[in-house]
Amino acid sequence: MNYEAHFETALDELRADGNYRHFAELARYRGDFPHAACQGRGDVTIWCSNDYLGMGQHPAVLNAMHSALDDHGAGAGGTRNISGTTSAHVALEAELADLHGKEAALLFTSGYVSNWAALGTLASKIPGCVVFSDEKNHASMIEGIRHSRAQRVIWKHNDLADLEAKLIAAGDAPKLIAFESVYSMDGDIAPIKEICDLADKYGAMTYLDEVHAVGLYGPRGAGIAEREGLMDRLTVIEGTLGKAFGVVGGYIAASAALCDFVRSFASGFIFTTALPPAVAAGAAASIRHLKSSNAEREAHQERVAEVRAALDLVGIPHIDNPSHIIPVMVGDPHKCRFISDTLLAEHGVYIQPINYPTVPKGTERLRITPSPVHSAEDIAKLIDALGELWAQCELARVPMAAQ
Ligand SMILES: Cc1ncc(COP(=O)(O)O)c(C=O)c1O
Repeated sequence: MNYEAHFETALDELRADGNYRHFAELARYRGDFPHAACQGRGDVTIWCSNDYLGMGQHPAVLNAMHSALDDHGAGAGGTRNISGTTSAHVALEAELADLHGKEAALLFTSGYVSNWAALGTLASKIPGCVVFSDEKNHASMIEGIRHSRAQRVIWKHNDLADLEAKLIAAGDAPKLIAFESVYSMDGDIAPIKEICDLADKYGAMTYLDEVHAVGLYGPRGAGIAEREGLMDRLTVIEGTLGKAFGVVGGYIAASAALCDFVRSFASGFIFTTALPPAVAAGAAASIRHLKSSNAEREAHQERVAEVRAALDLVGIPHIDNPSHIIPVMVGDPHKCRFISDTLLAEHGVYIQPINYPTVPKGTERLRITPSPVHSAEDIAKLIDALGELWAQCELARVPMAAQ
């Protein structure tokens, strides 16, 4: 086989479909998020970051990381089992357990790995376990469930009747319902209470991915389940340290026995080097800050409302959802890429196009994520540029009343 030709053909197909992924190479300026230098483009304003609150620049986080680096050096030096468990990891797990009101928490190197490892381990090590997975679950959950080789039942997105029918059909088998709170591409929110009710009724465990909610919702930033007073009803809450907490890493919070079970059996936990202590210290500082400060969450929600209102004024269509994620719908991969490229090249506005396979074909979009540190001037520039390109691409506008 001509391997190189095979690679090139596959890439050419992606390019022809408008789905080839280009990187924008950024250098963020410390203390000046959301502004950054973009290689070959000059200064840009980032409108698609998952550092939702700008905590990646927060002095409390940076100071904690600097002093951990000075005190303990760079890497952890091993897996958690073999010399890689430091006081910073233990303190962070305690912080996370407390955040979610659970007995314990377990750290992973990313949110992706936490889903892959925890779901894969639970589903494969509980004999006869059937996993009920929402059809819009993130790739990391899907891969973890697939890897477990457990029976997988996909239920229609947020559809309680479909979930219930499928739970009934599974009879007495052990069950695990896996779902997200805030879905990252549409920004809609799951009916967590009703899913927990079904779980209780049919003897299922629940696994909730709060990756796009931790830090952002609830009085202490523990997510949607906290906001709705439901944390104690969930078997496992999973989250990331890489989005609103502004650092990197992932975790589960659950009972002591469940965390110990995953710690003891998950290859994605056991056989990889632990997070650097400075990362753990930075994440703990971020969580601690957001447990007691609501200012970032309030400013975040205000900015989101301002951007939505500004889009409405010029009739640019966006999904009306109850979260902070604003999907501006383009519906064509080439136009989506063109708008994104031109925003960057001519307006200094960086929004990554979201095309297939991340979203279904025909629903290509620009996913806007306002942060507390975007200014009124940033918003005005964004809306002017988008309005101009909307006209240039001859995309339909939505009358105000319809939005
Ligand atoms: C719903 C969901 N879960 C998990 C992850 C993975 O988290 P991380 O970026 O920390 O690996 C993502 C990443 O975007 C996500 O959207």
